[in-house]
Amino acid sequence: MKFFDFKKNKKSYMCPLMNNHLHFSCRDALEPCCSANIGPAFVSKLSEKNSITGFIEAKKQYIKMLKDGKIPAECNGCVHLTEYKEVSDFRINKITLNHYTQCNCACIYCTQGNRTHEKIKEDENKPVLFDVLKFINELYDNNLIDKEKLYIDFQGGNISCLKNHEEIIKTFLNRGVGTIYIPTNNIVYLPVIEKLLVMKKGELCTALDSGCRETYLKIKQVDKFDKSIENLKRYISAAGNDSIIIKYIIVHGYNDNLEEFKKFMNKMLDINIKIIVVDIDYRDIIDGDFTIPKHYYDIIRYAEEFCKEYHIDLGIPPYTKQVLKQGYSKR
Ligand SMILES: C[S@@+](CC[C@H](N)C(=O)[O-])C[C@H]1O[C@@H](n2cnc3c(N)ncnc32)[C@H](O)[C@@H]1O
Ligand code: SF4
Ligand code: SF4
Repeated sequence: MKFFDFKKNKKSYMCPLMNNHLHFSCRDALEPCCSANIGPAFVSKLSEKNSITGFIEAKKQYIKMLKDGKIPAECNGCVHLTEYKEVSDFRINKITLNHYTQCNCACIYCTQGNRTHEKIKEDENKPVLFDVLKFINELYDNNLIDKEKLYIDFQGGNISCLKNHEEIIKTFLNRGVGTIYIPTNNIVYLPVIEKLLVMKKGELCTALDSGCRETYLKIKQVDKFDKSIENLKRYISAAGNDSIIIKYIIVHGYNDNLEEFKKFMNKMLDINIKIIVVDIDYRDIIDGDFTIPKHYYDIIRYAEEFCKEYHIDLGIPPYTKQVLKQGYSKR
């Protein structure tokens, strides 16, 4: 801690996301982060703006506030806050694209809100909130990007429903990018994803959540299990399996049984998947009011043993690990 901070008897803080990240959010805003906390907005009403460079002034103000020991209300209690450390590089090294919510399926657990067949239909003609490409180019034009490190995270709805996704990806590739992470339901095969995987610039993550058509249909509300598997096989034969991640989100009453999970793991072995992530439906754990049933641990144990035997990487997100360790409600 610096002398002046000590003298004021105040703590100084910082947030790495505030320093180096940008989140184009579906709240029509540019924010520093996409975390459990919704951080302060740097710029609001993006759909009415032609430029975002004003975000630098807002960012400076928040960084100074934190350094002076004042925590913005939106950051209160956030796990990303740390003690202040001198930083000299404020260029952007991660951009999260979350400005679209359109999707061609309807996972019953989706964090984008209650999804229905009607919503899928509506999404086909729903325009995006704002033109993100204009702002991305502006960031490059003003040398605000760390081109080597830049990590792009396509969140939002589903990338295949974002009409100019190819143009966005090509802009990143032409202007400089590290890695482009694409979470997708994988129902539509996208040549640009294949290209990214072949170039070793992309990571693909699909939550399959099931080992058969029937369970997939119940969870995703579309009959596309076979299509998704077929697309995975196509990507693997073109680009290998080292950047393909398949997720199984345990959803209470739908796929939380060992029999389904065994089917899933055998399918993964079949198509040569090397990275599996097991997660728990956020809706159950987000407010800490959920007792983890015993059979969830059986599924996790089975995953560990299976992955060890077949040399598959098994990932469990840190927050989920914490919840599993705790075992039940924090209340
Ligand atoms: C909202 S989705 C957007 C990207 C893409 N449509 C997809 O599903 O992969 C972002 C990520 O959040 C995950 N997700 C959404 N709702 C969740 C929930 N209730 N519990 C756990 N993960 C969830 C999805 O599996 C996906 O990996
Ligand atoms: S402290 Fe948390 S809420 Fe605030 S900007 Fe950082 S990540 Fe976002
Ligand atoms: S694929 Fe992604 S965006 Fe679409 S409903 Fe499922 S979780 Fe939501």
